[in-house]
Amino acid sequence: MRVLVLGGTGSIGSALVRELVCRGHQVFGLARSETAAAKLRQLAATPLSGDIGSPEAWIATLPEVDAAIHAACDFSTDMGTIDRRLLDRLLPTLAHQPHRPRFIYTGGCWLFGATGDGIATEETPFHPLPAFAWMVPQIRRVLASSEVAGIVVHPAMVYEAEGGVFQRFAREARSGETVRVVESEAVRWPLVHRGDIATLYALALEQAPAGSSYVGASIEGFSVDRIARAFARRFGKPDEAPLIVSSDAIATELGEWARGYALDQRLSGAKARHELGWAPKHLDPEAEIMRGR
Ligand SMILES: NC(=O)c1ccc[n+]([C@@H]2O[C@H](COP(=O)([O-])OP(=O)(O)OC[C@H]3O[C@@H](n4cnc5c(N)ncnc54)[C@H](OP(=O)(O)O)[C@@H]3O)[C@@H](O)[C@H]2O)c1
Repeated sequence: MRVLVLGGTGSIGSALVRELVCRGHQVFGLARSETAAAKLRQLAATPLSGDIGSPEAWIATLPEVDAAIHAACDFSTDMGTIDRRLLDRLLPTLAHQPHRPRFIYTGGCWLFGATGDGIATEETPFHPLPAFAWMVPQIRRVLASSEVAGIVVHPAMVYEAEGGVFQRFAREARSGETVRVVESEAVRWPLVHRGDIATLYALALEQAPAGSSYVGASIEGFSVDRIARAFARRFGKPDEAPLIVSSDAIATELGEWARGYALDQRLSGAKARHELGWAPKHLDPEAEIMRGR
């Protein structure tokens, strides 16, 4: 398929571009800078110059595609407005493609709120983190769209050994600081390795029916205390407990969206496993942290 990827240089998007290219798809990636364009070329994708904040500047020049995948976000206070304006332009434009394209929209685990011991699935009503509440109407719009065959993927917390949501833990432990966790060491995060979430997007692209959603969680809920202690161990402090910081403090440091780090959640990826044959390979994050890869 000819696939347009928005956010193809990001944590999720760069793994996704690599996976799509490996599977023989032809990938076009939106790039807002020469650095992003170079990264896309390195991944064997064709860069298209453009910014999600100004779709009018590039939308008319899109190549013919069979599908588009949206995994771009700038995490600014304007991200909801930017995303609404983007879909207002992008979906009608895609509707003029020769064949109704497939369109995968990225939701996320933080739309399901704190689940405690419950396990959220695609059927669970949304209870979004306020900073991401704008995503809910966007998701409804994509799933009901007549312009595109809309599909939604909800990634869990996306990690790799020292990257993604583990990046801050690795940085703090490596520089000798005590690794911080937000609100409580009892918080659990649903996890997925970036390679595995990339495979889920590819399977959804190739097989998912229009109007379907998939939760991309390979581990339902993993203790942040264990993650923080694994990093402390790896960098020479085997007995160090994490430092608890408040969600107010992390929101001041990173933005309101970062309050999501305090959500105690469990999510199930069973639907993707059963319907799409998704078989995540990375199921032992502590071992990956200790190996560093
Ligand atoms: N990572 C997770 O754990 C996770 C979990 C659930 C949901 N999600 C959702 O997944 C999406 C992607 O997350 P991510 O972690 O992959 O983010 P990320 O690593 O920060 O990547 C963001 C991507 O968006 C691009 N981008 C940002 N602003 C842009 C603009 N104005 N114009 C064009 N491109 C722009 C970035 O390009 P540049 O290279 O130019 O910066 C990059 O490719 C977000 O909606 C996020 O909420 C992520």
